[in-house]
Amino acid sequence: MAQEVRGVIAPAKDEPVRIETVVVPDPGPGEAVVRIQACGVCHTDLHYKQGGISDDFPFLLGHEAAGVVESVGDGVSDVAPGDFVILNWRAVCGKCRACLRGRPWYCFDTHNARQRMTLTDGTELSPALGIGAFIEKTLVAAGQCTKVDPAVAPEVAGLLGCGVMAGIGAAINTGNVGRGDSVAVIGCGGVGDAAIAGSRLAGAARIIAVDIDDRKLELARSMGATHTVNSRTTDPVEAIRELTGGFGADVVIEAVGRPETYKQAFYARDLAGTVVLVGVPTPEMKLELPLLDVFGRGGALKSSWYGDCLPSRDFPMLIDLHLQGRLDLGAFVTETIQLDEVEKAFERMHRGDVLRSVVVL
Ligand code: APR
Ligand code: ZN
Ligand code: ZN
Repeated sequence: MAQEVRGVIAPAKDEPVRIETVVVPDPGPGEAVVRIQACGVCHTDLHYKQGGISDDFPFLLGHEAAGVVESVGDGVSDVAPGDFVILNWRAVCGKCRACLRGRPWYCFDTHNARQRMTLTDGTELSPALGIGAFIEKTLVAAGQCTKVDPAVAPEVAGLLGCGVMAGIGAAINTGNVGRGDSVAVIGCGGVGDAAIAGSRLAGAARIIAVDIDDRKLELARSMGATHTVNSRTTDPVEAIRELTGGFGADVVIEAVGRPETYKQAFYARDLAGTVVLVGVPTPEMKLELPLLDVFGRGGALKSSWYGDCLPSRDFPMLIDLHLQGRLDLGAFVTETIQLDEVEKAFERMHRGDVLRSVVVL
């Protein structure tokens, strides 16, 4: 039987979000209905609301979520009712060229639920990133659910659904940060701070945090940064070189998504170092570099897509590390809020006041 639950809808471009009654169908083959316990507020939700991602309004927002599987459809064997799961927006196919080559994070055939959730008048909803989790219950593909240790608080677990996983993964998966490395992280919001936490976890000896906001630098220190540089007042490339014996960092992680910070990342790395680009630029942005510099500097230039994570491998591991006290995921939760406070949370996010506001249900 389809169910009616409350969810947060972005009705039209730039209009405030509101709570509506949503009809959630029973899970079909390969699908699951999940009772959402917590869902973080991410920049991407704001971009959806502003019409920056697609015109397919109305959207059901929310995509950084954890909860309990309520029911599953035919053919679902990896998760069962009662399982505590983290949702992800890249359920890989296991069959495409990327999956078969053992690089499933490049899978080009990721899938979401096949059926649609609707408003009570039948209007079809577009779930943000194929999830839509600012809601009491949501319908997803079973492959979007990853079981983790239920001892973790849901508001902490949900973070791995997007931004925090993107940052940790940028360091440990894409950047392959290793013991003793020097790492520079440009941009210390939720994603950059997660890259700092990931670098600490990986054993980096020197972690240089760069931001234009001293409040962010202070927080970055508590996440594991060993040095901080305010790039409003200090040239970050020179500062990073100085702090790394004149060489540049082994791994530079860009977590802003702007031409000037891409450029800083490019020049702040050691000649054999790696640049990891996790900040997402807008379509009109361009980067101009002398070709001789591109040619002359070795190393690697890599973009990181959702932290190049593999949910089934990375989520349980990171939750275990958190439960053991070796990775403080709780530090990313600035506040917990109710379903009807999402609009206000967007404002606080816009002002840079929070790392993460997390809706708890
Ligand atoms: N130089 C250094 N830091 C900057 C600059 C700059 N020119 N401009 C902004 N920042 C800092 C901000 O002060 C803030 O601390 O970058 C940080 C950005 O953080 P958030 O806005 O909280 O964004 P976050 O959620 O961390 O995401 C960062 O990663 O995955 C992508 O889409 C995401 O592009 C976004 C980026
Ligand atoms: Zn695939
Ligand atoms: Zn997100």
